Amino acid sequence: TSHRIAVLPGDGIGQEVMKEAVEVLELLKKLDPSIRIEFDTFGWGSEYYLEHGKMMPDDALDKLKKYDAILFGAIGDKRVPDDVTVWGLIMPIRKKFKQYINLRPVKLLKGVSCRFTGEDIDFVIVRENAEGEYSNSGGRLYQGLDQEIAVQNTIITRAGTKKAARFAFEYAEKHGKGTVTSATKSNAIIHSMKLWDETVREVGQEFQAINLQSYYIDALAAYFVLKPEEFEVVVASNLFGDILSDLGSAVAGGLGLSPSANLNPEGDFPSMFEPVHGSAPDIAGKGIANPIAQIWSAALMLEHLGRADLAAVILESIEEVLVQKEVQTPDLGGNSTTSEMGSAIRDIIQQL
Ligand code: NAI
Ligand code: MG
Repeated sequence: TSHRIAVLPGDGIGQEVMKEAVEVLELLKKLDPSIRIEFDTFGWGSEYYLEHGKMMPDDALDKLKKYDAILFGAIGDKRVPDDVTVWGLIMPIRKKFKQYINLRPVKLLKGVSCRFTGEDIDFVIVRENAEGEYSNSGGRLYQGLDQEIAVQNTIITRAGTKKAARFAFEYAEKHGKGTVTSATKSNAIIHSMKLWDETVREVGQEFQAINLQSYYIDALAAYFVLKPEEFEVVVASNLFGDILSDLGSAVAGGLGLSPSANLNPEGDFPSMFEPVHGSAPDIAGKGIANPIAQIWSAALMLEHLGRADLAAVILESIEEVLVQKEVQTPDLGGNSTTSEMGSAIRDIIQQL
């Protein structure tokens, strides 16, 4: 079967790291002609905005809909407000394509030096990506006055929570994990988080072999730092999952090493794979960004497309380069360039 991929490099280092990821995919195709991946690249983002007044053309979503997956870099540019870039490109894709799960592996790769080196940290965060605390329900009263009030509603639905919980338990089942950890705060947030708890528990009962544990988000944040090796699958609402994801990324060696997937589990629309990091304007144009998060995101995409074997080859090669420590970008403590890191990974892939 052939896979059609839409490549959206975006802005800043997004373009720099995407180049390396695409070259990895090109190499895999060359090594194994049974891999049929076709790419189309779309140059949408802040440059496009400055020229056309929008982040992508009006028919962009119709175009993207026809692809099997979207590989995304990052967006963000000092000349365009961040809410314009985010709501003009990423959010419409996530919403239109019902990518209601954000999956973030937190895995401490071999060879990464950080304070957790030596620990076996390997879990995933399943973040509900479509509802929850990130809603536009609410408003402001008495604007500008001392009595001003802002109300921001959290929308937790039984159906939405069920889907997130089911994804987490099924993921655990499929990957041989014994425990799902739910992030909650139902001691203080008594309506929405109670529904969350009840629903997660209800779904959990369908999975007798998997243990469900529930932690309050504040304690859970501390446990991420105190005992990250204990977790297997963590399921969380949109806001809690967002915060835990960045914490998880920090625990596992930093943004240069953190991939993510925005999934439409039903497969009726394409899913999108992107590094956790943004366009990093502080280092953009210098050619020193770490491409590992982007290359790993491409591996997650291959796994999603049914090629877990290729994803494993990519991850093994990344780890081998990290263990060898000969090529390290500045975020890892070295002075190698983005393209040197990409080439080093491709050299190992070629040997496997
Ligand atoms: P950022 O992730 O771009 O950068 C944070 C820090 O991490 C910077 O010091 C940067 O140099 C470093 N960093 C990030 N990725 C790296 C890599 N691959 N290798 C080495 N160092 C790396 O986050 P920040 O600064 O908050 O946002 C910058 C822009 O990116 C903003 O416009 C923001 O809106 C956008 N952004 C976009 C995202 C997306 O496209 N999904 C996600 C996060 C931020
Ligand atoms: Mg975030």
